[in-house]
Amino acid sequence: MPNRATTLRRRDDVLALPIRLDRAIRSQSQQVHSALRAGIIDGLLAPGLRLPSTRALAEQLGVRRNAIVAAYEALLSDGLVEARHGAGTYVAAELPAPPAAAPMAELDIRIPPRRPFALGVTLVDPVLLKRLAAASRRRIAQAVPDELGYGDPRGSLHLRTQVAHYLAANRGVRCDPSCILIVSGTQHGLRLCIDALLAPGDAVWFEDPGYFASRHTLRATGVTLVPVPVDGEGIVVTAGEKADAAAKAAYVTPSHQFPTGVAMSMARRIALLDWARRAGAYIFEDDYDSEYRFAGPPLTALAGIGAERVIYLGTFAKTLFAGLRLGYLVVPPALV
Ligand SMILES: Cc1ncc(COP(=O)(O)O)c(C=O)c1O
Repeated sequence: MPNRATTLRRRDDVLALPIRLDRAIRSQSQQVHSALRAGIIDGLLAPGLRLPSTRALAEQLGVRRNAIVAAYEALLSDGLVEARHGAGTYVAAELPAPPAAAPMAELDIRIPPRRPFALGVTLVDPVLLKRLAAASRRRIAQAVPDELGYGDPRGSLHLRTQVAHYLAANRGVRCDPSCILIVSGTQHGLRLCIDALLAPGDAVWFEDPGYFASRHTLRATGVTLVPVPVDGEGIVVTAGEKADAAAKAAYVTPSHQFPTGVAMSMARRIALLDWARRAGAYIFEDDYDSEYRFAGPPLTALAGIGAERVIYLGTFAKTLFAGLRLGYLVVPPALV
């Protein structure tokens, strides 16, 4: 790391600043502005330091002089430098202390490589992608001003209406579009449910084994997870009642239990709904991939048979692709 510029090197009559331009930035003035700004904020250019004349700096950096003039002006409006009449440009005397260490250096986010059949990878039909892209372009080009603002916090009424039709036809869930909330995928929806309905410390039944991402989401909110075993019929309701009958909610994947793939039997569905009614608990039904079946149609969603206790979480992560980050909640009218 270069020394602080209080020890500037003198090369002929030109003060050489310890900065380096990022030539990937398109305009020269932005290259200079960005390098000087970073130097000042990181403390390489000390408060009160006199900056070289625009001519001298242009020479040092090999850029046009008017790029330096524009960069100095931008730094002036940032408040990072001060112009002293007739005496040149100085790094502002009062600046926040520079950060102790470069924060980016500590970030180490590794995304594992994705292979076919890996978790979360869908086979996206290129024809479907083309149609989606064309439809998106068309919608954006034809959008009315209302659609370009914040709009209804539940999301587009048109999309909610389509989702309502789809759920009625395919999942046995009858709901009004006003009870549908468009979200950025299942985890966002789950987080909203917890924030709205539960308090830190509340007990939540969680399938064991279960979906790790939802486990992280629930844990992050401070609720207490109660592991409940899964057998060939899905979550074992009697075991949940034994562990904590007064839990406030249960998170389940009835169509395809994650990761066992078991479909929850109708007897278990009824037992789970009975418990939720008795305990006054909510069921978070994660219906992430009911569209994919080896044979026959999927069983009716829990939300189709016990709507008042169930919050249904749907996603386009499987039918389209996960990076779309688009899903929806169906909530009982009283909770909207
Ligand atoms: C059990 C389960 N729920 C939900 C999802 C999708 O989550 P999201 O909509 O947040 O992408 C997945 C994706 O693999 C999943 O396995």
